[in-house]
Amino acid sequence: MTVDRLLPTPEAHDLLDLTHELVTRELAGKVDDFEARGEFPREVLRTLGRSGLLGLPYPEADGGAGQPYEVYVQVLEVLASTWLGIAEAVSVHTLSCLPVAHFGTDEQRKTLPDMLGGELLGAFALSEPQGGSDAAALTTRATADGDAWVVTGTKAWITHGGQADFYNLFCRTGGPGPKGISCLLADATTPGLLPQQPERLMGLRSSAPAQIVLDGARVPRERLVGADGGGFAIAMQALDAGRLGIAACAVGLAQGALDYATGYARERTQFGQPIGRFQGLGFMLADMATQISAARALLLAAARLKDAGRPFSMEAAKAKLFATDMAMRVTTDAVQVLGGAGYVSDHPAERWFREAKVLQIVEGTNQIQRMVIARSLLG
Ligand code: CAA
Repeated sequence: MTVDRLLPTPEAHDLLDLTHELVTRELAGKVDDFEARGEFPREVLRTLGRSGLLGLPYPEADGGAGQPYEVYVQVLEVLASTWLGIAEAVSVHTLSCLPVAHFGTDEQRKTLPDMLGGELLGAFALSEPQGGSDAAALTTRATADGDAWVVTGTKAWITHGGQADFYNLFCRTGGPGPKGISCLLADATTPGLLPQQPERLMGLRSSAPAQIVLDGARVPRERLVGADGGGFAIAMQALDAGRLGIAACAVGLAQGALDYATGYARERTQFGQPIGRFQGLGFMLADMATQISAARALLLAAARLKDAGRPFSMEAAKAKLFATDMAMRVTTDAVQVLGGAGYVSDHPAERWFREAKVLQIVEGTNQIQRMVIARSLLG
């Protein structure tokens, strides 16, 4: 079903049309193969970069497309309705550009056109094996030594780990707690920056994260992004925006699952009629569609707050929480609508079901989102 979108400009309509065209031409025929082989689709991302989709919400003066988040998240949605791995890669890359775009020095910002044009792929290295949810407890240490920071530690669950050209390394340059954390911009070629084997995932296999071991990696002193000790606040602000991206991925994934299940329920007959005509399944599809619309409304409300320059942390957390829990329910029901066919890999429903699960975990588990919302409510 075509989603009836209210977009702010004719340009945004063109952008959504272009995205649909790219999905049909570049994504739809490749997704199953890349997911089955667990291969990272770098060339597909280059194509999206050349089409302007890797820097959508950044100013044109920096090499971006100057689009509001309201539009950017809807582009992500369309990508995710066919290939979550690609949509998530675009979202994480966009997140990874934020520290330099918002806090970088003039020198650091010279790389922005290549980042936003997709020539350089980014990674966001915050989590560690012992510190995922409790990000302020990270232990990777950066020590000033002459003209460099010497970085030692291990980063975990890093999307684009081993594929990225640049890494935002969140490291401890000071004492314990959030005020002791800084952000360093490291090139992938930095000696001592050692990506490990990709994780073997339940789903999202074309975009598997990897650990990054930092074994005395020397990052030039001028690659400190923002203030010494300002890294945690940078990470949190980037994640606020990133959570809108993950919510968009969830809405798109669920929309893809609904569309497929609806098509199946129209075609498949039992007891002499299409199965969608049975109230049990018709109501299930109706509930799926309603939940998707509710999640999209929450997402767009949060994105519009961000576009208006208003605080949006709590709304981003609500959107991420609601949309990703919704995607889990909707993809579960999509498998049910297909019955036995939903449980085999001849149909994409089982893949979407596996993929939905990860969205409840990444960029802050849904328990962390509830913590963010509760703290905002209670002060
Ligand atoms: N924006 C700006 N500043 C913020 C902020 C925000 N959204 N949230 C917190 N801060 C600031 C606070 O104001 C505070 O500063 P002050 O003391 O100056 O006021 C400081 O940061 C510490 O804040 P908290 O006391 O709230 O910190 P906390 O330790 O209690 O943690 C948390 C808060 C929300 C639980 C946070 O740790 C969190 O979001 N955890 C989840 C991390 C996460 O999402 N990880 C996934 C990363 S994804 C990844 O790494 C892989 C990838 O490929 C993308």
